Formats: sequence, structure tokens, C-alpha cells
Amino acid sequence: MGTYSSHDGYLSRWQHTHYASLICRGPALSFIEVAAVTPQGRTSPLDLGIYDDAHVEGLKAVVGFARSEGQKVGVQLGHSGWKGSMMPILPGRAMEVLRDGKGGWEGGVMGPGTERFKEEYVRPREMTGKDIEEMIGAFGSAAKRAVDAGFDAIEIHGAHGYMFTSFMSPRTNRRTDAYGGSFENRVRILVEVIQSVRDNIPDTMPLFVRISATEWMEWDEQPSWDIEDSIKLARILPRLGVDVLDVSSGGNSPTQKIPIQDAYYQINLAEKIRAVLQKEEINLLICAVGSIDNAEMARDVVENVDGHAKADMLKVGRQFLRDPSFVLTAAKQLGVTVQWPYQFWRAAPGR
Ligand SMILES: Cc1cc2nc3c(=O)[nH]c(=O)nc-3n(C[C@H](O)[C@H](O)[C@H](O)COP(=O)(O)O)c2cc1C
Repeated sequence: MGTYSSHDGYLSRWQHTHYASLICRGPALSFIEVAAVTPQGRTSPLDLGIYDDAHVEGLKAVVGFARSEGQKVGVQLGHSGWKGSMMPILPGRAMEVLRDGKGGWEGGVMGPGTERFKEEYVRPREMTGKDIEEMIGAFGSAAKRAVDAGFDAIEIHGAHGYMFTSFMSPRTNRRTDAYGGSFENRVRILVEVIQSVRDNIPDTMPLFVRISATEWMEWDEQPSWDIEDSIKLARILPRLGVDVLDVSSGGNSPTQKIPIQDAYYQINLAEKIRAVLQKEEINLLICAVGSIDNAEMARDVVENVDGHAKADMLKVGRQFLRDPSFVLTAAKQLGVTVQWPYQFWRAAPGR
């Protein structure tokens, strides 16, 4: 999860310490925050980057730590698209554009068209075919760097209203070229990025893709990206070499209506997609995420009841910020034995 602790894309000592402290406490696979594939693909100047070979050294150190703990670590690759050149989201700070020459890169912000996400954001320029081609290439180069750094897995960030969601949605993509219009055209940019990443990583390396399974705009009855589109996309992902679909939602429209009163609002989306894929015998693992903050809920998501689980795996975000030992805490609550880091063994249950 973004920490706004990088400068010029470099992983800082703070980030290293933060990730190391989580990795040593038992998650099966940790993903470090989104790393931008170009400088303009950052949301803010404090975002992590993987657009320069010099970024690899810091990333390699995190991987080295994970190895020393017998743990696995992945990285998420992303591009902010029309949401770039902003002040980082920090306490007490309003959303504000960072102007050219004042830490920002307003002129470098691009999207499917010239529409702004909302008034407080940069007006992007419409991407040309060349811009798209370069961005796809940047994902490939970034993937190669991720392999050089030694990561165990890669996730493409196709969610939350950044580059790919804005192209996938008929609300925000009004292009008339090969990247707009039909479903196939709107997902083309993501498909080509997946191919570019897959071409640059070993066949055995797990590839995750995170999407916003709905943009939560069904309420206004205009065409929008919804669960049916996500199912359609999910069907083609295994052929592209995607191993896991990570089901998130929202972020593409400021007027989205998320049913947050239901803690399972996002898990339900994962469950729906998984049920269809299972019925059609499509081999794609489904990862659920969102509001999982206790052991019972985590178990409920992946537990097989009468041959049915809601998801194949789950991710936890904010709970790890509240309790970096969440895996150890959950294991104790569920009566599951897990190996504690030997440095902590005298605090382990039963000691
Ligand atoms: C501070 C913060 C930073 C985040 N950064 C990312 C990110 O880098 N990539 C991403 O896909 N999602 C990001 N998210 C979304 C989380 O990964 C997660 O999907 C969301 O918080 C819901 O899960 P949770 O309830 O377990 O936190 C971020 C969320 C927060 C609150």
C-alpha cells in the first residue's frame, strides 16, 4: 500500500523497514506498494518507482530480506494515468494538483481523453498511439527490473481508476480508435500490457492482475464497467498467462456509490466471479480483498464449505497497518500453528 515515502522513485529506508517488519511476521506472500513504470506514471512525487535501473538495488534489498526469512514478496506495477501529478494523500492536505516546476508534471499527465477525474485534478492530454506503445514498453521494462530485483510475483495494477480502469470504462473512454468503443477495444490496453509483462518474466513467475470489478456507477443507469464486464475479462486472462485475478473495486468516478455498510461488499464480487469461472471450468485463481480485519472473516473467505469457497486467497491491507503481526494474531485465534521468526520465539504462544 502506497506510503508516500519515496523520492525520485527510490525505495527509502523507511519503506525497507516497514516492509521488512511485515514480511518477517508471516504473510505467505507480501506485495510491496505500487511501483510506477514511468516518472509520469506516479500519482505524486513521493511514489515508489521502478522506471530506472538504479531503483533495482533498493528493491533487491527488500527481496533479500524476504529470502533470509524464507518468505515470498511481490511488487505491483502501475501507472496513474489521468490521476498523476498530485499532492500525496497526507493527513490534513487537500487534493491539489502539483504544477509543472513545483514538483509536478502536469504536462505529462495522460488518459484515454481530456476529461478530468474531478475538478481538483489535472486535465490530461489524450494519449496517442505512440504514448500507448511507450507505456506498454515501460511495463515490459519494469517487469524485467522486477525480475532482476528477485521478486517472486508481479501484479499489474488495473484498478482504482488509474490508467487501465479509465480505459476499460465506457464512461471515461470515449475514444474512437482501436483502444475505445467495444469491450474488446477498451480492454486492449490492459491485454497488451499483460502480454508485455508476461514476455519479460519467467513462465513460472506468478502474474496477478488487480481490477476494479465494478466502478459502482450502476445507480445512474448509464453504461459503466460492471461485474459482467469483469467476468468477461476474467474468461480471457488465463490465455494471456495471468494466474490470479485480484478483485478490488471503484475509484473511477467521484460519484460512485459503494455499499460500504456491508463488510463483504467487495468479497461478494470476488465470489460471483469465482462461481462463474468454476462453473465454466476456467482455471484462474481469485483473490479477495477489502475490509478483512479479523481472523474469522479471513477464514470465512477462503474456507471450503460444502465444496464452496468465496475466494482462493485473500489480501489484507489496512489491518496490517493496525497490527503488523496480523498473521500471528490470526493464527493464535484460530488455533493454527505457524512458525514465528526465531528472534521472537520467546513471545510465541505456549512460551
Ligand atoms: C494508504 C493506502 C494505500 C494504498 N495503496 C494501494 C496500492 O499501492 N495499490 C493498490 O492496489 N491498492 C492500494 N490501496 C488499496 C488497498 O490495497 C486495499 O485494496 C484496500 O485498502 C482495501 O483492503 P483493506 O480493507 O484490507 O485495507 C491502498 C489503500 C490505502 C488505505
